[in-house]
Amino acid sequence: MKTFKFTVKSSKTITAALGRGMENISAGFPDLFRAADKVCLVTSSDSPPSLRARALTLFPEGEKPHFYFWLPPSEKAKTLEQAGKLCAFLFDNGFSRDSLIIAAGGGAVTDLAGFAASVYMRGINWVSVPTTFLGQIDAGLGGKTAVNLGGAKNIAGTFHQPALAVCDTAFLDSLPHSELRSGAGELVKYAMIGPAELGRIVKKDLSKTLSGDRSALTACVSACAAYKIKLVAKDERDETGIREALNFGHTAGHAFEAMSGGRLPHGEAVARGIRFALIASKEAGLLNRENFAGLNALVDALRLPPAAFIRHDFRKFLGLVARDKKARRAENRFILIKSRGRLYPAENLKIELLQKAFQGALK
Ligand SMILES: NC(=O)c1ccc[n+]([C@@H]2O[C@H](COP(=O)([O-])OP(=O)(O)OC[C@H]3O[C@@H](n4cnc5c(N)ncnc54)[C@H](O)[C@@H]3O)[C@@H](O)[C@H]2O)c1
Repeated sequence: MKTFKFTVKSSKTITAALGRGMENISAGFPDLFRAADKVCLVTSSDSPPSLRARALTLFPEGEKPHFYFWLPPSEKAKTLEQAGKLCAFLFDNGFSRDSLIIAAGGGAVTDLAGFAASVYMRGINWVSVPTTFLGQIDAGLGGKTAVNLGGAKNIAGTFHQPALAVCDTAFLDSLPHSELRSGAGELVKYAMIGPAELGRIVKKDLSKTLSGDRSALTACVSACAAYKIKLVAKDERDETGIREALNFGHTAGHAFEAMSGGRLPHGEAVARGIRFALIASKEAGLLNRENFAGLNALVDALRLPPAAFIRHDFRKFLGLVARDKKARRAENRFILIKSRGRLYPAENLKIELLQKAFQGALK
C-alpha cells in the first residue's frame, strides 16, 4: 500500500491509500474509524456483489453498527432528491456529527455521497472508495462533490474533502470494457496536461489498460492519482487556475454528456470533448499539425464507438456551453492547448471554429 498525505487550504490533512488487494483499512486509521459512532456504506444498486464484498474486506463491520444505503445507477444518483433521501436515512438512523459515510462506487456514488456528507449536520466525515478506473484516477479524489440540475452536469455542489481516499485496484477486476474505456478517456487527459513522465506512463500503458491489464491499471492509477492530489493541494477550491487543467476537454464533454440524455459514459464524453479542444486549438492557430497529430492519436487509440447517443444539435451545444460554470459572463470558454502540458484558456471563440470542432468531435 502506498499512502499520500496532502494538506489543503482549509489546513486539513487528507490521506490517500493506493494499492491492490488491501485489507482492513479501518485498523490502519484508528483515529478516523474508532472516533465514529456509526458508519454508513453507500453503494449503487447496480454494482456487482463482489464490490460490496471487497468494501467489507476493507472496512469490516467490527463492533460498529454498519448501515447500508443504495443509490440508483450512475447519473440517476446525482440528484438533490437522492441527496435528500440519503440525509433523511442518516437522520432516521440516528447519525450524528461523529458518524462516518463510506462511499464505495463510481464517480456518481462518490460525488453524491460526498455532497450529502458535506450538508448533513453541516458536514460529517466521509471516506471515498472509488471503484471504477475513472473514479480512481480522478472522480474519487479531490473533494469536489456535485449533483446535476436541469439536465446540466454538476450545477450544485460543494468542496468537501474526504478524510481518507482508498483506491484499491482489485475493484477494477469486475469492470466491463466500456467502463475501462471510459476511464481511459480521463487517462488520455492526464497525458496531455501532465508532466512528460506522466505522459510516458500513459502512452506506454494506454492500450493495456483497455484490455484490463492489472499492472498497467495499477501503474496508471498510482501515477494519475498522485498527480491529481498534487494539483488539488495547490488549488483546492479551483481559484488560481492550477486545478482548472483537470477540466481540459470537460466543457464540450459535459455538453455531449447532457446531449446524450445521460446515456454516454462520462469518460467517453470527455474523450470527445478532448478531441473538440484539439481541433479548436488547431483551428485557432495554437496547436501545430505535428502536435495535433501526436495528441489526437491518443484519442484514436481509445477506439470510441460511434457517437450514436449524442443529438447532433449545434444550437443546443452552444446553449449548454454558454451555461457552463466556468464561462461566467463570456459566451463560451474552453481550455485549449498549445502543446503537451501547455494549456491556454480561451473565451468567446468564433461560431465557425466551434462548428468545425463540434463536427470533428462527433465523427
Ligand atoms: N468530483 C470530481 O472531481 C469528478 C471528476 C470526474 C468525474 N466526476 C463524475 O464522475 C461520474 C462518472 O464516474 P464513473 O465513470 O465512475 O461512472 P459511474 O459512477 O456512473 O459508474 C459507472 C458504472 O460502473 C459500475 N461500477 C462501479 N464500480 C464497479 C466495479 N468495480 N465493477 C463493476 N461495475 C462497477 C457502476 O455501478 C455504474 O454502473 C460523473 O458523474 C462525473 O461527473 C467527478
